[in-house]
Amino acid sequence: MRIGIYPGSFDPITLGHLDVIKRSSRLVDLLIIGVLNNSGKHPLFTAEERVEMIKEVTRNIENIQVESFRGLLAEFARIKKAAVIVRGLRAITDFEYELQMAQINHKIESEVDTIFFTTSVEYSYLSSSVVKEVAFHKGDISSFVPIELVERIEAKYE
Ligand code: COA
Repeated sequence: MRIGIYPGSFDPITLGHLDVIKRSSRLVDLLIIGVLNNSGKHPLFTAEERVEMIKEVTRNIENIQVESFRGLLAEFARIKKAAVIVRGLRAITDFEYELQMAQINHKIESEVDTIFFTTSVEYSYLSSSVVKEVAFHKGDISSFVPIELVERIEAKYE
């Protein structure tokens, strides 16, 4: 069984993330979406809320599992017996950081490799911070996030 892990903060999940999830889930038997539970960052949504939101928007994809994790990604991948870590590349600016992360993760856990998906062009400008900023200023976020989540995100700023 080929297991992949797609890690991230997902605070909140965007259509760009969902695009990577849909495309990468076709290449593995099981795609585990790993939600980083990092108390050092101050997320808008708790890890439980982020897991719940991702489960809601991926409910129609059969081979998806959503879990939060703490600590090292390579360690999480080892525990889950994952062969690959999936990452999205939006622009050249992502490359240097991603290269370093892929190399560190492979050094820590040599059984794990990272594969990259170039994000679809319509989402190349997207990030969770952009979504939060637009929502904070009461802008329309419906083309940035899955429609089921719009009200829930807007409610955080009411
Ligand atoms: N579409 C839209 N947005 C995307 C995207 C896509 N396809 N891919 C990434 N993004 C956005 C994210 O929403 C995030 O936005 P934000 O900064 O506004 O919140 C930004 O791009 C950065 O994303 P990413 O690089 O995935 O960061 P992350 O915080 O979501 O996840 C981890 C990073 C979890 C993979 C990484 O921190 C990690 O592995 N941590 C565990 C500790 C560890 O093992 N470290 C490595 C060894 S030292």
